[in-house]
Amino acid sequence: MINPWSPASWQTKTSTQQPEYPSAKEVTSVCARLEALPPLVSEFEIKKLKAQLAEAQKGQYFLLQGGDCAESFADCKAESITDKLKILLQMSLILTYGLRKPVIRVGRIAGQYAKPRSSPSETQNGIELPSYRGDIVNDVNFTATARQADPERMLSGYHYSALTLNYLRALIDGGFADLQHPESWELDFVKKSPMAQQYLDLAHTIGDAIDYVKTIPGVNAANLQQVDFFTSHEALLLPYEAALTRFSEPHQRWYNLSTHLPWIGMRTAQLDSGHVEYMRGIANPVGLKIGPAMTIEWLIPLIQRLNPDNEAGKIVLIHRFGHEHIAEKLPPLIAAVQKAKLPVLWSCDPMHGNTKNTPSGYKTRYFQDILSELQQAFALHHQCGSFLGGIHFEMTGDDVTECIGGATDVREEDLKSGYKSMVDPRLNYEQALEMAMLIVKKGGGSSF
Ligand code: PEP
Ligand code: CO
Repeated sequence: MINPWSPASWQTKTSTQQPEYPSAKEVTSVCARLEALPPLVSEFEIKKLKAQLAEAQKGQYFLLQGGDCAESFADCKAESITDKLKILLQMSLILTYGLRKPVIRVGRIAGQYAKPRSSPSETQNGIELPSYRGDIVNDVNFTATARQADPERMLSGYHYSALTLNYLRALIDGGFADLQHPESWELDFVKKSPMAQQYLDLAHTIGDAIDYVKTIPGVNAANLQQVDFFTSHEALLLPYEAALTRFSEPHQRWYNLSTHLPWIGMRTAQLDSGHVEYMRGIANPVGLKIGPAMTIEWLIPLIQRLNPDNEAGKIVLIHRFGHEHIAEKLPPLIAAVQKAKLPVLWSCDPMHGNTKNTPSGYKTRYFQDILSELQQAFALHHQCGSFLGGIHFEMTGDDVTECIGGATDVREEDLKSGYKSMVDPRLNYEQALEMAMLIVKKGGGSSF
């Protein structure tokens, strides 16, 4: 018998990856202030996303989710937000065209501020301090004061999320989606690729297709500029998530109104965890990361607990096995989900199973490994009578050098020149655009 749910019922369970705050009283007071503030998104938007995800579960839509591993407060700037939106829109245009499906765009943005860590502490030169857990918890600098968890940061996280979302909404409503037009694509890099001509042809064909659609009588060109854009983050810091959880009178359900699509990370998905307890009660769609440790005996009850009424559009399973393990790990899980007749959307995160450390101490990922996991994911789903309905990237619109490879041939020795991520390495603008082009070429049987 499962106990009744409330936004606070997670507190009756064990929750890992939570900061140690010096004063519980201060946490309570910050949460009370958060509870009094307006939500960041609405339940009406969330319902729209859930309906689109339900369509994606039937193969009618495709999910593109991407953004920083960890957003930082300092990076809440016009240019950075614009660049992230631009690359997501451009990738979505390539995917829409290549896969012949509408694409659901979801940013890891406007709230991706909390990070799970493999160790609670970090040691440098013999000094041990708490690990950095994301800007909503503590500061990345390696001093005792900076690493002290500070509940006031939850209020800053809320404010930076609101600023980011406000600017995203202004850009989209103001017609920024026009930037989807390939004229504004920075395509110089593709000339270095052996596939240069194919990439340029694709960009021109998309441009022509848009121009053609605009000339069809009855087509309102303004509709082409209209895009839906949704936000997501890992729902890790439970006091924050609970404080932004509100009861919707029109829908008679609880929603997490800090984001449209919260997800549960690999490290906090135990069946009896505080995170699963919290997530089972909200009406948002939820993402669930699944890695090599996931078993059938764990996954099936987990999905059933998170989606007791078998609602369509509710569960996005984001697998992240690594290119060396996906072929062994994925098929049995697909078969088990099929056998249990559970409605899910399968998405592939080809980033988190492919992280490597260079001898010089950088965390990196190889473009080829990422692509290989994705290609295998499309093929394995197909072989199992399933289909891959989404992709999940860590990427940025900036010209960072964090992942190795791609047409511009970022090398290990280049990492030091443009490595900005505070946690995991991201695809840069060119690598992300190229990845989208390779997916429509190799993925899902579609081609250009
Ligand atoms: C992440 O998406 O940043 C992350 C930590 O992923 P995972 O839980 O899959 O390791
Ligand atoms: Co990450």
